[in-house]
Amino acid sequence: MMPELTIPPRDRLIVALDLPEIADAEAMVARLGDSVTFYKIGYQLAYAGGLSLVGRLADAGKKVFVDLKMHDIGNTVARGVESVAKLGGTFATVHAYPQTMRAAAEARANSGLQILAVTVLTSYDEADLVEAGYRLGVSDLVALRARQAKECGVDGLVCSAEEASSLRGIVGERMSLVTPGIRPAGSDAGDQKRIMTPARAIKAGADYLVVGRPVIASDDPKAVADQIVAEIAQQQG
Ligand code: C5P
Repeated sequence: MMPELTIPPRDRLIVALDLPEIADAEAMVARLGDSVTFYKIGYQLAYAGGLSLVGRLADAGKKVFVDLKMHDIGNTVARGVESVAKLGGTFATVHAYPQTMRAAAEARANSGLQILAVTVLTSYDEADLVEAGYRLGVSDLVALRARQAKECGVDGLVCSAEEASSLRGIVGERMSLVTPGIRPAGSDAGDQKRIMTPARAIKAGADYLVVGRPVIASDDPKAVADQIVAEIAQQQG
């Protein structure tokens, strides 16, 4: 599926609802109001019952990124993808193994769901890959998996903003690049090691920015979200 050619700046911000309880997430969504159109639900909230929010957010006109990084036998991945599509998700993640990506891409056909592949987790360095039995280094494995993602027909990649421009060269214009590790100028890096401002990430070729703590741990989440969107808009021109 082709990404929208010109995505409105506000729709490029995906706020990670990394919160322990559904009630916390609902309160955050209420506080953010019209400032945020796209949310990400990951392990923490999903395993606390948060998948029930997907349909409710979708009914309220929001888009939802279901970030459960699926990886299993093809049939299991396909059935999982069908269920996420039925929930009303817009993005779902899988690990970038060809069998998994092919199953997911096929299963999402004719639904509104787009599949994003995670190439190599950014917490992995060369030593972690050797320990896990891989022969390729991080950048070679990222490039291989990006090419395979394109061949398998997935809709986009999750990548660091540093990788965005080289990955754009591999996957072309039709796949979405979704980048976490975004920090507005002056905000706390938290445990993110490689960070980029919203404007620089968009300039590097990112289509969507995933932002968690700078928004949800702020005293004024709505103001931070508005500031990020303004920065995206300024860069997008
Ligand atoms: O709070 P923060 O902005 O660091 O949150 C980033 C979000 O993006 C988290 O939900 C995290 O799981 C996700 N993520 C990440 N780094 C990656 C991939 C995903 O931080 N390499």
